[in-house]
Amino acid sequence: QKYLFRIPHSNEFADYVWPGMIVNPEKIISLNEIEFGPDDVVIASYPKSGTTWASEVLSAIAHEGNIDALKSIRMDERVPWIELDDKAWWIKFFYVWKNKMFSTGVDVRPAKKRICFTHLPLELLPTSILEGKCKLLYVARNPKDQAVSYFHFHRMARFLGLQTHTTWDEFFPLFCSGYLYCGSWFEHVLSYWKFTQNNPMAKFICYEDMKRDLMGEMESLEQFVGVPLSIEQRINVVKHCSFDSMKDNKMTNRNGVMLFNEKICKFMRKGIVGDWKNYFTVTQSEAFDELYKKKMEGSGLQFEFE
Ligand code: A3P
Repeated sequence: QKYLFRIPHSNEFADYVWPGMIVNPEKIISLNEIEFGPDDVVIASYPKSGTTWASEVLSAIAHEGNIDALKSIRMDERVPWIELDDKAWWIKFFYVWKNKMFSTGVDVRPAKKRICFTHLPLELLPTSILEGKCKLLYVARNPKDQAVSYFHFHRMARFLGLQTHTTWDEFFPLFCSGYLYCGSWFEHVLSYWKFTQNNPMAKFICYEDMKRDLMGEMESLEQFVGVPLSIEQRINVVKHCSFDSMKDNKMTNRNGVMLFNEKICKFMRKGIVGDWKNYFTVTQSEAFDELYKKKMEGSGLQFEFE
């Protein structure tokens, strides 16, 4: 469903497609009551861009490389989703109960920073984040792989309302038009791209960079978060955050979430760069390249597609 929604602190309205079951406008407005401060790092992304991966990496940094802490506290506790509706507590309850995922990390040293994540478009972020009271990390992924991942996600996530039998050919035009949850990929990414430029409180990273050299990315992420790790700790974190390790780790793999139909696919699906080639036809690829060129022109932002 598409709603018109008043942007906080302005008289303007924004279009937005809401997965009504888990996100609602009232909750988003209420986020303005939270004072984000210097000890907070907010991860923002368009869904399926590597949010969960970046969350685990940042959480590891915030926990000073303490892998035991990461393994004994559920990810949704370490890195909460800020706009998740409070009424969605029941989803969490069944999830935890069904999978016996009781966090045991009570005697773990507290994290040095609070990490959370959001998929909100820039204009809907709480004011204290926009004013630079806390750090903001934006994670982006090349839109062709993102679209393929989002296609699978739309078929398996029951709250997004697309049918499981929806085909790629049906999904592709929806993605290009931006008529999906979180709206246009281009608008989401470009607004954050502008926001993060020359902004010492903000940083923009790409999925493909993490894939190519997570060790190198870690160093700059540690600096950004303000918690340096030793080389040994960094090596352990990189190992812990590999796709295979996160896929096998029930604290991070999101297996068993009731709202996901895992017969269609798992949340941790493939974790690769270039899977789009298995889905885009030549015509779709060319049409998308055209759109991409038009929308991204002059932005200075470039992605790697393979
Ligand atoms: P695929 O569907 O292409 O496999 P998000 O967390 O933003 O929803 O993104 C999910 C995507 O990131 C999925 O992509 C998922 O497999 C991938 N992903 C999650 N953890 C990863 C990791 N450690 N390494 C590489 N990709 C990862």
